[in-house]
Amino acid sequence: MRIDRLIGKWGGWGKRRTRERFEAGEIFVNGLCMEDRAYEVGKFDRVEIGGAIVQARTRRRLILNKPAGVVSATTDAEHQTVIDLIKEEWASELHLAGRLDRFTTGLMILTNDSAFSESFTEPEKKVGKRYLVTVNGDIEPAVVSSFEKGMWFAKEQVTTAPAIVELLSENQCRLTIYEGKHHQIKRMFARFDLKVTALHREAIGHIELPDDLAAGQWREVD
Ligand code: URA
Repeated sequence: MRIDRLIGKWGGWGKRRTRERFEAGEIFVNGLCMEDRAYEVGKFDRVEIGGAIVQARTRRRLILNKPAGVVSATTDAEHQTVIDLIKEEWASELHLAGRLDRFTTGLMILTNDSAFSESFTEPEKKVGKRYLVTVNGDIEPAVVSSFEKGMWFAKEQVTTAPAIVELLSENQCRLTIYEGKHHQIKRMFARFDLKVTALHREAIGHIELPDDLAAGQWREVD
């Protein structure tokens, strides 16, 4: 919204009285005097008039270590949600940048800043998500080469981008995928009759889950 509209609405003033507030140098945006009445106010701009706050919203960017059993949703009638783990009055403002299945653990990003979440979730950004995966059988070379080539998902009509697979043992690997299709990793292994028995997200793009962030804990990031 234009700043003159915001100020006019806030004070209940018409155009002339609003303009006078600007001419008197009373309007401040992020601590600086604002003369441009056409300025488009950003969601996180701090707007003040004569010392009174018109708008002040703190940008929140959080990482959270999701425990098993907690759902990655903002509300749920049955289960505890990741939002329930954040005991702050602003928690309800947050949305999730991507989801995890109920029994998947590890890194989640929560924010009230859509530009931030979209930088991780927009498909064309091709952000890598790295998981530690344990399955109930041997991860044969055919599995690895199929993941590395990319897999056709008929339901979504997409071929996945080549994944990165680092074998850690016969039945465990680090897997980086570039999409976030529903149950993607479980479905990838199911093609080879393998069941995922543990799934833990370690990283999303450049953001790594810190070792000292225990399950259920969260912290703000820059
Ligand atoms: N793939 C899955 O199957 N589940 C998740 O939670 C994440 C990726």
